[in-house]
Amino acid sequence: MTLARAVPRAHEKDDATLASLLSVADFEPIAATALPPSAWDYFRSGAGDERTLRRNEEAWREWRIFHRVLVDVSKRSTVCRALGIPSAFPLWIAPTAMQCMCCPEGECDTARAAASVGAPMVLSSLSTRSVEDVCAAAGTGAVLMQIYIAADRGFTRELVQRAERAGCRGIVVTVDTPVWGVRERDLRNSFRVPDGLRIENLERAGMPSGHSGRGMGECLGWTIDASLSWRDLEALCSWTSLPVIVKGVCRADDAQLAVQSGAEGVIVSNHGGRQLDGAPATAESLPEIADRIGDCAAVFVDGGIRRGVDLLRARALGASIGLIGRPILWGLAAAGERGVRRVLEILRHEFDLAMALAGCPALESITRDLVRRGP
Ligand SMILES: Cc1cc2nc3c(=O)[nH]c(=O)nc-3n(C[C@H](O)[C@H](O)[C@H](O)COP(=O)(O)O)c2cc1C
Repeated sequence: MTLARAVPRAHEKDDATLASLLSVADFEPIAATALPPSAWDYFRSGAGDERTLRRNEEAWREWRIFHRVLVDVSKRSTVCRALGIPSAFPLWIAPTAMQCMCCPEGECDTARAAASVGAPMVLSSLSTRSVEDVCAAAGTGAVLMQIYIAADRGFTRELVQRAERAGCRGIVVTVDTPVWGVRERDLRNSFRVPDGLRIENLERAGMPSGHSGRGMGECLGWTIDASLSWRDLEALCSWTSLPVIVKGVCRADDAQLAVQSGAEGVIVSNHGGRQLDGAPATAESLPEIADRIGDCAAVFVDGGIRRGVDLLRARALGASIGLIGRPILWGLAAAGERGVRRVLEILRHEFDLAMALAGCPALESITRDLVRRGP
């Protein structure tokens, strides 16, 4: 795939078209037609039979919302703070790789849109724009850096320190990738990093940037390490003064070990169904984890969040913040920065509306008794 083909044919939808898109789901078919087929498959696919991928979305809907009535909701506030990082509503952007496959400015467009709406962005270490460029694009908006701990620990340590120098507000370490999950669509498509795109954060070590091989396993295998253990997390926490958040946990005992190893937060995540097919949906694992560590650490969740009501459910089940991955890619593919802004604005509006309809004027009133699991 050349860079020219990697850039969608009609990625700039006009403002009137964007305004006619009313939900995150409305963006998906637009992305599907705008993106080259192998990029679309890379972005949307999951591992194995994609059961965990499908369950992520379904599981949120199984939590029924028992709304309160006759509560004064005429004044509402969605503003919140996690690990000292403010956001306009309880939503951050999850790290997703290679956003320049969606539009030429890729991660920089996401950073600008996120900053303008007040949603912190977690930048993937497999991004196609450098952490310095993305922090500059974000301006005063918050950017956090996601990393994998590579077999070459010195390289990882340098990347962490580089992110800190660039102005990142936290380090998100992804731990559900001892090996890459098998995404069969990528193998069938012989997916590889498109010619002309660079995995900029990984280049300075003089290592291969992933232009050869089939699928993630062959392209970027060197960026992960199957021998990782809790001791490596302790070491990582000692390398940086930034808060460390562990991403990819689905068990309460692991969440507790993460906190004991120095993490200040945990993201309940199954990598958007791209790693272990058969892992529980995150809406299923969240409550137990929040109950175990919610008093001493920040709890985040991602996977299948597509509506403001899903964010409300996430808050009710104990997460401070929900993150979204694919919806941002659909927004980027539709209209770059403007597309991402529209996706974020839709979710912010839906969340505010959900609070009003559920009888919750403040985030603190979104409590566990608001939701019950239905069949
Ligand atoms: C195309 C794609 C690329 C991703 N790249 C990364 C990555 O580089 N690092 C990481 O920690 N997670 C990565 N993820 C996982 C996301 O951070 C997040 O866990 C997941 O997308 C959330 O689910 P959602 O897409 O249903 O919102 C990626 C997900 C997708 C779909």
